[in-house]
Amino acid sequence: MSQPQPNVESIADTTKPNAGRMYDYFLGGNHNFEIDRQAAEQVKKLTPFATKAVRLQRWCLQDIAERLTTDLGFDIIIDFASGLPTQDHIHQVVPAGTTVIYSDADPITVAYGREILKDVPNTYYFQVDCSRPEKLLGHPEVIKIVQENRKVALVYWGVSAFLTEEVIKYISQYLYKWASPESYFVFQAQLAGFDPNDPALINILKVYKQIGTPMYIRSLEEYQQMISPWHPDKKGFISLLDWHGLDQSEMSKEEQNVFGPGGVGYGAYLVK
Ligand SMILES: C[S@@+](CC[C@H](N)C(=O)[O-])C[C@H]1O[C@@H](n2cnc3c(N)ncnc32)[C@H](O)[C@@H]1O
Repeated sequence: MSQPQPNVESIADTTKPNAGRMYDYFLGGNHNFEIDRQAAEQVKKLTPFATKAVRLQRWCLQDIAERLTTDLGFDIIIDFASGLPTQDHIHQVVPAGTTVIYSDADPITVAYGREILKDVPNTYYFQVDCSRPEKLLGHPEVIKIVQENRKVALVYWGVSAFLTEEVIKYISQYLYKWASPESYFVFQAQLAGFDPNDPALINILKVYKQIGTPMYIRSLEEYQQMISPWHPDKKGFISLLDWHGLDQSEMSKEEQNVFGPGGVGYGAYLVK
């Protein structure tokens, strides 16, 4: 397992738009700068569905938090590339006593995140590049929190399109070795199913490339190869539209064409 190089050069620079803070702007948050808002508006012009898509992603994340805890009984959730832990994030919907470990590479997101969580018990926020999961899982404070418990729920939601194929393979193999049997790895095959030749999508990809965070469009089959040796549970990969029951009729014809049947991609509960 060779360790890939991270792709986060723009992440600490407040003079450049940042994908995470743009995401916060799409969600209606106020942890973003003028430079982020301008870039986000460019994306919104190209596809008005962007705001809805980002909300859908967060709604699904809340569904995940509930299922992992209430249905599956996990009491530790380790979330990678978390973004801002605002009202609609994991800690808001889990039962009291659940430990939630958030992380992100963007130092500004981490600083805001810690501020938001300062009075919330059992929640933590670490600054870690998710391409190197060992940095979070091997962090002395995380070791203290998790102790010997390796039957945990690991979450990579809303970030895979920002990661190279080499990185996704590395993460999957690392987590599989690290976790105990019956652990869960919740993974979003972000943007899978998009038509890579769609002119609106091509323009969005240009915006993200310009701001230094290139995005990769892949098919679901390609993602499925990358997550080996994990296997989805019996429901398999589910489109985010089906996951949250969002009606396609809420989208214009043009939006349906760009986003295809997957909405914002597909998600799955991968089980060891
Ligand atoms: C689209 S947001 C997703 C946030 C959250 N997981 C969700 O689904 O709502 C992507 C987040 O990934 C973070 N990010 C991007 N590349 C990263 C990396 N290599 N390591 C850690 N975080 C990263 C960004 O800073 C941003 O906060």
